[in-house]
Amino acid sequence: MTINTDLIKTKMIEYFGSDKKRIDHALCVAHYSEEILKDVNARRDIVLISSYLHDIGIPEAIKKYGSAAGKYQEIEGPPIARKILNDLGIKTDFVDIVCQIISFHHTFKGLESLEFQVLVEADLIENLNSDFLKLSFKKKKNIIEKNFITKAGKKLAISVINNAE
Ligand SMILES: [Fe+2]
Repeated sequence: MTINTDLIKTKMIEYFGSDKKRIDHALCVAHYSEEILKDVNARRDIVLISSYLHDIGIPEAIKKYGSAAGKYQEIEGPPIARKILNDLGIKTDFVDIVCQIISFHHTFKGLESLEFQVLVEADLIENLNSDFLKLSFKKKKNIIEKNFITKAGKKLAISVINNAE
């Protein structure tokens, strides 16, 4: 079954509504994922859909707990992602894989799959370019050394932090 990833992109944009910051973040993460996928043999559909939906639990986490902390997102995100994917008629085993990635994405080392790794790296690259932008070059380099495994992700991350200097 081929999944039209653009449908999930549209659903994500609808879900976040006026929250442009979250939409832009998800689109940037998807962009970096695509870049990494040029050199990494992981499943594009799983990586892209996880990129669009990885932070989908944030609005609900803020509503319920007043916090977007990773642990709350990891609770709130998967059921919302599951509903979006179920409504599109996507197979349960595929949905399970995406939801597992979403539920571990703040743990960095929670899953061994290459798809998970690409998402984590793409998300970190985007954060190096936004939330972590003001960190010292050395600190950013440490984040890369500690968390990156793919050559393509590492290369992209280094070029992003070099450009920010
Ligand atoms: Fe993210």
